Parts: sequence; structure tokens; C-alpha cells
Amino acid sequence: MFSRKLNPGLELRPLLPDDAAALFAVVDAHRASLREWLPWVDATQTVADSAAYIEGTVRDDKETRAFTCGIWSMGRLAGVIGHNRIDWANRVGFPAYWIAPDCAGQGIMTQCCRAVIEHAFAELKLRQLVVAVATGNLRAQKIPLRLGFKQVSTLKKAEWLHDHHVDHYIYSLAAPNTDRRYSAFSASVLGFRLRQASTDRQATPPVGA
Ligand SMILES: CC(C)(COP(=O)(O)OP(=O)(O)OC[C@H]1O[C@@H](n2cnc3c(N)ncnc32)[C@H](O)[C@@H]1OP(=O)(O)O)[C@@H](O)C(=O)NCCC(=O)NCCS
Repeated sequence: MFSRKLNPGLELRPLLPDDAAALFAVVDAHRASLREWLPWVDATQTVADSAAYIEGTVRDDKETRAFTCGIWSMGRLAGVIGHNRIDWANRVGFPAYWIAPDCAGQGIMTQCCRAVIEHAFAELKLRQLVVAVATGNLRAQKIPLRLGFKQVSTLKKAEWLHDHHVDHYIYSLAAPNTDRRYSAFSASVLGFRLRQASTDRQATPPVGA
């Protein structure tokens, strides 16, 4: 399982069932702001909805289909980051993230994205990361650009957002050519990958192979 202390007040760790109330509280407190770009906010109406979401992330994590971490800032759940999906056959990850507006603008998300990217290339051995951002979401576009992603295309009507379609810019980042920069990968993550139980298994060489 992926977890990281990024600095003394900032930590990434998997969401667990006990985090449902904290997750619901942060969504509920900031729903007006979060719903501007996140289509699932309106469907999150009770702690049970957040619990069901976490249950899904735990299952996906076990099956290595996707992976999700809570972002804890100064001991408080501030947001979520992970890969919406991992395409093992082609070794492509699809990072996604959000943070409560009262924790934004401090560089927290950039640090979290950096950690997720490094983990994706060094430990999951993905070859490429793809981030989709609504063309009107200027704030979110700065993050992939700051981290070296390149805009590779635009997807028209990529997402239904409450009552209208939005287009997406698609950003991509390839794994560095040299493994030296990302040479450390842990046995625990090896275990995580080898437990993969999906039809992708055949298409997935063992980590480090
Ligand atoms: C988009 C979103 C993730 C951006 O979060 P954020 O916290 O502003 O992003 P960062 O952590 O990278 O912070 C960047 C800002 O912090 C500032 N900052 C302060 N200290 C910093 C540091 N040490 N390093 C980097 N940036 C720093 C930067 O100057 C930048 O300010 P700017 O946006 O005015 O240029 C957040 O607003 C959000 O979750 N929005 C709603 C959901 C969403 O849109 N998700 C993305 C879907 S693709």
C-alpha cells in the first residue's frame, strides 16, 4: 500500500472505512466550490455515500485497478489523490486529484502529485501518465504543466458536468528514459503488484522484469 510522509505536516495514505465521516465532512463543507469541476459532488449526500466510495477504492486498490490516497494536511483530511484507473496492459496511469479550497494555493497538490508521479514510474513501473483537465479549469491546468506534462490533445465533450458537457485538455508525461533517477523500489510494492488479480495479469510483466 502506498503511503508517504511528504513533510512533517503533510501525508498521503490510503483511505480506510473509518475515514468516511472525515471525507464526507470535507466534501459537505466545500460542496459549492468543489462541484464546479467535480461531477460526483452532488451525489455525495451522506456519510454512507462517502463510505461506499471508500469501499470501492479499497476494492480497486486490492485488485490494483486504481489507487486512491487521502491527503492529510496538519492531521486533517484535505483532499484525495490517486489514479482513476491503471491500464496495466499498456502501463498507463490516469492521475486525478482534488483538495479543499481552504488548503489550495499552498503548493500542497503539486507536492502530492510529485510523490504520486515518482511512485508511478519508480515503483509501479508505469510508462506513461495521462491527466485530463476541463478546458475551463485554469487552476488545475497549471499542475500538469508545472510538473512537465505536455498537452497532447483536446477531447471534445469529454465529460458531463451537471447540466452541460465540458471539453478536456489531455496532458501526458512519459517515464524518464533512465531508471537511475527512479531506481529505488520497495519489496512491499512488489508484493502489491504481484497480488494483482485481474485479466490484465497476462499482459503485465512482473515488476522489475
Ligand atoms: C485544481 C486544484 C487541485 C489546485 O490545487 P492547488 O492547491 O491550488 O495546487 P498547488 O498545490 O499546485 O498550488 C499551486 C499554488 O500554490 C502556490 N504555491 C505556494 N507555495 C508553493 C510551493 N511550495 N510549490 C508550488 N506552489 C506553491 C503557487 O504559486 C500556486 O498559486 P497559483 O495557483 O496562484 O499560481 C484545486 O484547486 C482543486 O482541487 N480544485 C477542485 C477540483 C479540481 O479541479 N481538481 C482537478 C481536476 S483535473
